[in-house]
Amino acid sequence: MRQAGRYLPEYRKLREDTPNFLSFCYSPALTVEAALQPLRRFQPDAAILFSDILVIPDGLGQSVRFEGGVGPVLEPIRSETDLKQLQVSKVLDHLEPVFESVRQLSAALPHNVALIGFAGSPWTVAYYMVEGRSGQDGSTIKKWAIEEPDGFQKLIDILVPVTTDYLIEQIKNGAETIQLFDSWSGLLEAEHFDRWIIQPTREIVAGIKQHNPDVPVIGFPRGAGDQTIKYAENTGVDGIGIDSDISPAWARDNLQGLKTVQGNLDNQILREGGKKLEDETINILQTLSGGPFIFNLGHGILPETPPDNVIRVAEIVRGHHHAST
Ligand code: CP3
Repeated sequence: MRQAGRYLPEYRKLREDTPNFLSFCYSPALTVEAALQPLRRFQPDAAILFSDILVIPDGLGQSVRFEGGVGPVLEPIRSETDLKQLQVSKVLDHLEPVFESVRQLSAALPHNVALIGFAGSPWTVAYYMVEGRSGQDGSTIKKWAIEEPDGFQKLIDILVPVTTDYLIEQIKNGAETIQLFDSWSGLLEAEHFDRWIIQPTREIVAGIKQHNPDVPVIGFPRGAGDQTIKYAENTGVDGIGIDSDISPAWARDNLQGLKTVQGNLDNQILREGGKKLEDETINILQTLSGGPFIFNLGHGILPETPPDNVIRVAEIVRGHHHAST
């Protein structure tokens, strides 16, 4: 959940020389260093590969760039004709530097630190491919998915096997756990959620498990609210990441009997720090530690977050763990 990133001065320094974010993502020496930086400060139990979910559209040949202050900007794909420009056969070759990053990071990590590989879910990657940038209300992608489902299905049918192969390759190179980020799943409800979120996720999880039955998969359906229950029941994931809109007590009562729950400290509270941060961290730990649970944030760490606040949280989490085992 942006364990690495701009809140760390050492990351900002490392980024300075490579203004192009995708070039940074394709430089194994830099990604390995970025992934190790938070480990040195906080000693978490797992490290996440440093990359981005948008390397998939980039690998498919869509124009993707990252602009300071704006975030990702893509040349949007909005029709079946546009889909013909995507080059499916070259994706894995293009992403070889990511696999090299996984290999090098895996070799660099201590044995007791798990390596998490990741990808965006088809719906969330499609959101960026169709809308072209963050912060859109999703009306363009929803219109396509709901009014012309057969055409939109073709985009999802490109993303499902590509994402599955990409994740299997990460596992072959050393990833021990997989996370699927569905940051825009909150845009859909009812049967649309089933078709565009649950079904493609289930196919990817099944594809991974066919070859790697023991590799856990954690899904993160951000903004899914009550629909998180059917996501946990029907996708085949082993773990369910929850955002900060879900109360820990609700997750305990509705999700923890189904899956390992991962979450969900509010990134604003983490940024603010102080007693509220300590109280909220303890509340999450006390509410969820009675069942299968991984402590995490509810969404990506904000660039203005003081690293000392993260140290404070790590101390509380480790103290609680020792007190309860
Ligand atoms: O340490 C880690 O967590 C691993 C690396 C990681 C990044 N992005 C690096 C990154 C991971 C796991 C992601 C996932 C990702 N990327 C998601 C899913 C999770 C979520 O946040 O919902 C999404 C939606 C993206 C797409 C993306 N990449 C956006 C919207 C942005 C702009 C964010 C911003 O605050 O400007 C990025 C850029 C990005 N990806 C940064 C990092 C460290 C900031 C880049 C920089 O300027 O150095």
